[in-house]
Amino acid sequence: MRAVVTGGAGFLGSHLCDRLIAEGWNVLVLDNLVTGADSNIGHLWSHPNFRIARCDVSKYIDVPGPVDYVLHFASPASPVDYLKLPIQTLKVGALGTHNALGLALAKKAKFFLSSTSECYGDPEISPQHEEYWGHVNPIGPRGVYDEAKRFAEAMTMAYHRYHGVDTHIVRIFNTYGPRMRLNDGRALPNFVHQALTGKPMTVYGDGKQTRSFCFVSDLIEGIYRLMQSDEHLPVNIGNPHEITMMEFAERVRSHFENAPAIVLEPLPQDDPKQRCPDIAKAKRILKWEPKVPLDEGLRVTLDYFKKEFAANKTA
Ligand SMILES: NC(=O)c1ccc[n+]([C@@H]2O[C@H](COP(=O)([O-])OP(=O)(O)OC[C@H]3O[C@@H](n4cnc5c(N)ncnc54)[C@H](O)[C@@H]3O)[C@@H](O)[C@H]2O)c1
Repeated sequence: MRAVVTGGAGFLGSHLCDRLIAEGWNVLVLDNLVTGADSNIGHLWSHPNFRIARCDVSKYIDVPGPVDYVLHFASPASPVDYLKLPIQTLKVGALGTHNALGLALAKKAKFFLSSTSECYGDPEISPQHEEYWGHVNPIGPRGVYDEAKRFAEAMTMAYHRYHGVDTHIVRIFNTYGPRMRLNDGRALPNFVHQALTGKPMTVYGDGKQTRSFCFVSDLIEGIYRLMQSDEHLPVNIGNPHEITMMEFAERVRSHFENAPAIVLEPLPQDDPKQRCPDIAKAKRILKWEPKVPLDEGLRVTLDYFKKEFAANKTA
């Protein structure tokens, strides 16, 4: 079985490639490395079932030979990245998804879209279930990501309904783990970078806004199960354990000996106040739920960050 993984050199894509290779798949990654890194997949280069082609999937994609599955993970994903790359983000969500679906159609392959909880915007209900249509500001700064993903979902459903492509859509909630970038601007790398460089840890607003954090191995398990399911409508995958940003900062802080102070800064525009998945559907149809407790996931991730930080300091 041969899979094409767009964005396979990124944080989540590289973990997905590890899983596919471990399951015996032949994997071709398409990535332009705009936010990914060769080092995320360096350990796979010599594997006989692994290949990477450097290309922009928002342009025409040509893959010789048979393909059984196209998994579209390419997209800047952290707010820092997509605010810096607004047009590329819109293009990879729209044109990139169209190209990846076109490849799946041409090869009679299955298709998998990595969508996001950002489709729910700043939600008016919590937890968010899959039938909720969301509360998104299309013209706010985050609109470039949220609306690109909403368009990508619409395009995926159109290919399923009109062309009969066997499609799957995951709505991923905040995920963390090794291979996140220390400078990607998300809450956890931010806190860690600040702690490692002896700066105060910044929490936005009053710190009472909530998030939930899923460890990457749990997410990949959910994705692998969804890949093989018959479900075509979106499925939430995330950890429903909700925590305020202030509590989260304190938890991260507790993993450092000389922990810095926490300071409050103004909330960015359209920052969601609450983000928590309803995972009843994933439990029901995939028999999936997250297993890794926050402190265990944090320990593994912080070990990774500390090693990366030390290696870059001495490089
Ligand atoms: N990490 C999360 O918590 C999270 C949450 C929700 C959704 N997602 C989705 O999961 C996917 C992967 O996210 P991630 O956290 O691994 O981000 P990432 O930035 O680490 O990985 C994205 C990868 O896509 C590549 N890419 C971007 N534009 C491209 C283009 N035009 N052509 C080819 N390659 C391109 C990047 O170089 C990178 O390797 C994204 O689609 C994102 O929207 C992630």
